[in-house]
Amino acid sequence: MLNTIRALAVCALAFSSLAALGAQADEAILIKFSHVVADGTPKGQGALLFKQLVEERLAGKVRVEVYPNSSLYGDANELEALRNNEVQLLAPSLAKFEQYTKQLQVFDLPFLFDDLDAVNRFQKRAKGRQLLRSMEDHNIVGLAYWHNGMKQLSATRVLQMPGDANGLSFRIQPSVVLEAQFRQLGAGAQKLPFAEVFKALQSGQVQGAENPWSNIHSQKLHEVQPFISETNHGVLDYMLVSNSRFWYGIPHQIRMELEGIIDEVTYAVNRQAEAANQADRQRILDSGRSQVLELSAEQRQAWRDAMRPVWQQFETAIGSDVIKAAQTVNRKHRD
Ligand code: LMR
Repeated sequence: MLNTIRALAVCALAFSSLAALGAQADEAILIKFSHVVADGTPKGQGALLFKQLVEERLAGKVRVEVYPNSSLYGDANELEALRNNEVQLLAPSLAKFEQYTKQLQVFDLPFLFDDLDAVNRFQKRAKGRQLLRSMEDHNIVGLAYWHNGMKQLSATRVLQMPGDANGLSFRIQPSVVLEAQFRQLGAGAQKLPFAEVFKALQSGQVQGAENPWSNIHSQKLHEVQPFISETNHGVLDYMLVSNSRFWYGIPHQIRMELEGIIDEVTYAVNRQAEAANQADRQRILDSGRSQVLELSAEQRQAWRDAMRPVWQQFETAIGSDVIKAAQTVNRKHRD
């Protein structure tokens, strides 16, 4: 009798475990992808393409929800939400990780990369690839680099030479390197979430900002910044990141398929980003709302000379090996 009861109990347990597994197998994995920009920007388009390809190829196995424009999480809390697995994909700008690694600050150094092609070369080389793994101690895994573009300076006054920025206050991303960059110009800097930039410029809380064309246009910043100087003085790029435990917990076959999709999306985003920024530059010109100032070689050199001392300040924190590796990617190698 006792043996029969035991046998029945074992059967019941086995059945309930199988039922649980079955239920799990039926349940699609949900990936929430949160970001702070508009759908029409390079990152916004990348998120939507990722969702589309996953739903075409992994229907029933993986579901993707995209939350643009800080509608789920914003700059202040998105990385914490990722680490708590409340959201599974983000693509913060490389300036937003300094709490977790100092090495990525290399991307904020002014005038380090001549253009987006140079940034691309660095990201593809060994040192750039290594940086994708630089936050694993914090449960953050880097899956890819996505481009936005080179940053331009906008302000309420014409910025032709570095001294013109003196006394203005600029909105910056949360990066001590960017703070130091504006200090070099005798300007102030306020760290503000992206969602607050338009209002802060409109109200006069800050008088200037630095952004790629796509962010300026999609946030309508050109409507509250009468002057934009085409400085191309730094880069605003992204790292597509996930929660390490979540990512490596995805069944192997599905994870491989997701990583293949990410490679495809990365290729598409990075191929189109420069053209998208140039199209937005043209839209800003056509709007007539803001005057775009092209700098002469001498003027650009003056900005470079003014900002360049920032490199030394952060060399130890970032690592001179990382900075040296980044310096070799420009076509014309400079010190
Ligand atoms: C910013 O805060 O200016 C950018 O990082 C926003 C973005 O994600 O492009």
